[in-house]
Amino acid sequence: MNQYTVQVASAEHLHLAEAICLEMEESAKARGTGIAKRSPQYLRDKINEGKAIVATDAQGDFVGFCYVETWEHGKFVANSGLIVRPEWRKYGVAKAVKAKAFELSRSKYPDAKIIGITTSLAVMKINSELGYEPTTFSELPVDDAFWKGCQSCVNYDVLSRTGRKHCLCTGMIFDPEWEKKAKQRSEAEEGIQASEHEKWNFLKDVKVLERLLSIKEKMFLKMGERMKERKLKKEIV
Ligand SMILES: CC(C)(COP(=O)(O)OP(=O)(O)OC[C@H]1O[C@@H](n2cnc3c(N)ncnc32)[C@H](O)[C@@H]1OP(=O)(O)O)[C@@H](O)C(=O)NCCC(=O)NCCS
Repeated sequence: MNQYTVQVASAEHLHLAEAICLEMEESAKARGTGIAKRSPQYLRDKINEGKAIVATDAQGDFVGFCYVETWEHGKFVANSGLIVRPEWRKYGVAKAVKAKAFELSRSKYPDAKIIGITTSLAVMKINSELGYEPTTFSELPVDDAFWKGCQSCVNYDVLSRTGRKHCLCTGMIFDPEWEKKAKQRSEAEEGIQASEHEKWNFLKDVKVLERLLSIKEKMFLKMGERMKERKLKKEIV
């Protein structure tokens, strides 16, 4: 029971694309958020390019999925479209899928910064364990194509109103330079155990993150409602 396999998806998984897309849409509806909409063909392309990770059960059915995207000519890599079938949640599937996607991203694009944006505390926790840290949106790609994915999110107007500076999502980043610098320091200090780039402690900050999300919801969503009300009043007058 609860046995699953996590691997880089290949031709044998192409037929799962429809079911994965459907689950992405259903989950977004259930969460009341939008997602970057993907077509089954987009997922099939990712599978064909060797840029997708799939978790399957003993029957070969889809359990979890995510894919790798690049931005600004490979300067940034995102592991996007993370989804786990509801009946398989809380068994560590997302953690395993993300770890495999991280490994794939680092082997394909060793110099790229690995990034993500999310409102999910589960995803923030997983990312933090992989070495990501929270970052400002200004550190993320400036490429319009990256932000285009946000257009199907219900909170997109927050992102637009704030000139892409803020939204409900938290931006996260892993920079391979951190490891390189730590290694250089360690070599320079000849045998003296150099302190590595100190890993961000998610658990220490989880309460702050929860509070931050709630403040952002209050601030940005209520502000949006007020703006709409004002506009409506002006139209009536
Ligand atoms: C978010 C999601 C991918 C998590 O998948 P999962 O397989 O249940 O996650 P895991 O079991 O690997 O859990 C990873 C960690 O997050 C924690 N976690 C899982 N769900 C959580 C939740 N709803 N709230 C807080 N923490 C959560 C787990 O306890 C675990 O921590 P641990 O290592 O200390 O035990 C899954 O709920 C999902 O598909 N949601 C809908 C789509 C979505 O939100 N995608 C993310 C878009 S950015």
